Amino acid sequence: MSNRHSATISARAGIAQDPAFGAVTPPMYLTSTYELEGFRKPGKYDYSRSNNPTRDLLGDALCELEGGAKGLVTNTGMSACVLALQVLTPDDTLVIPHDCYGGSYRLFTNLSAKKRAFKLVIVNFQQADWAEQVKAAKPKLIWLETPSNPLLQITDIRAVCDVAKPLNALVLVDNTFLSPVLQNPIALGADLVLHSTTKYLNGHSDIVGGALIIKDAALGDELKWWANCLGVTAGAFDSHLTLRGIRTLLPRMKAHQENAAQIVDYLETQPLVAKTYYPGLKSHPGHEIAKAQQHGFGGMVSFDLAADEKYLSVFFEALQCFTLAQSLGGIESLICHPGSMTHASMNAEAQKTAGIGPTLIRLSVGIEDPRDLLADLAQAFAAVQQALSADGATGTGKTAVAASVASTAQAAAAAPQSTTIVSENNQASFRANPALAAFW
Ligand SMILES: Cc1ncc(COP(=O)(O)O)c(C=O)c1O
Repeated sequence: MSNRHSATISARAGIAQDPAFGAVTPPMYLTSTYELEGFRKPGKYDYSRSNNPTRDLLGDALCELEGGAKGLVTNTGMSACVLALQVLTPDDTLVIPHDCYGGSYRLFTNLSAKKRAFKLVIVNFQQADWAEQVKAAKPKLIWLETPSNPLLQITDIRAVCDVAKPLNALVLVDNTFLSPVLQNPIALGADLVLHSTTKYLNGHSDIVGGALIIKDAALGDELKWWANCLGVTAGAFDSHLTLRGIRTLLPRMKAHQENAAQIVDYLETQPLVAKTYYPGLKSHPGHEIAKAQQHGFGGMVSFDLAADEKYLSVFFEALQCFTLAQSLGGIESLICHPGSMTHASMNAEAQKTAGIGPTLIRLSVGIEDPRDLLADLAQAFAAVQQALSADGATGTGKTAVAASVASTAQAAAAAPQSTTIVSENNQASFRANPALAAFW
């Protein structure tokens, strides 16, 4: 970690570094190639697949925010995943969590099954014996996603790193759901941090991109070599937009999180919600770990609709402030049905094992006025209630839907407790990072 605080690093990303004209806002280097200084005298830059000044500014800023030695910027989050997997050979084992992003799951399962790129072991890090499962796998790389997509399950990063170290295993954390403002995996012992910059880092839903931040400089150089070799590096235009996005990362994350907290409180009182998934809830099984390792609970919220699947369309169609769309982390509120959208690449059994039920809904809470978001949800639930009444049906109740998914035990224990967190965000647990203490 550098000595500068997150707010300063992000607000000043790329600022006042233009060697040519002293432009305060960095220029965008839309060039594929660079003139040599002379015959056999290459300059610092020669070809934009290998290096580009705009991309480098973004990589350096992300590297500083995450506290790594090298920051590599890729053209999608998935290409950052592909890049990270270059640390593996066919004899190596990759451990992944059972409930990661559907696209990552598809990549891991297909590369291992169809290409024999590595051996794959899927571990449920929510089970008491996860450490034994990891040790038995003898992994070269342990992949974590915490909070996980879409159920926001929490994995104890420090505990996994403690198990990994004696095994000589690397630990990678996909930090997409929180951004470096709310969680710093390298400070908790991780070796690599991955982002889909498509999400909170860019924050405006107008690019796709990814990043890999590496703690060890030598491994960083090796992966930079692979990034060029594979051709997964990001273009200048997307890098420029993402650089602009991260300058407002802190205030955006603050607004996302404050709105999410209000929505969670509302969902906890709504009879047509069977279960709310949010690490800020005291009833969330990962609440204490989240408090210890995160600097806030984030802007993602999931819940099970307490009505038959056929009422999902009524709910989605009634909404006006939440757009039914893939992705997350933009300033606008989005809603999605993971089972048929983001996690459709998991088969029904894998979804069930991961706890993704048929009426699970995921919200990416935006930065609109929370009163409008709450009113929008309320009228969409009213529309479902009206449709139920017209059919002579009733909602399935707080526990029935949740009990039908794999996480039955947790669901049964999760009687609604209205307990969020905005207030807690201001409390001691979030003062671990001095920059954020001032901020939250
Ligand atoms: C947690 C997580 N990791 C990685 C990705 C892949 O990123 P991209 O869509 O930018 O390729 C996503 C995409 O939704 C994601 O949610």
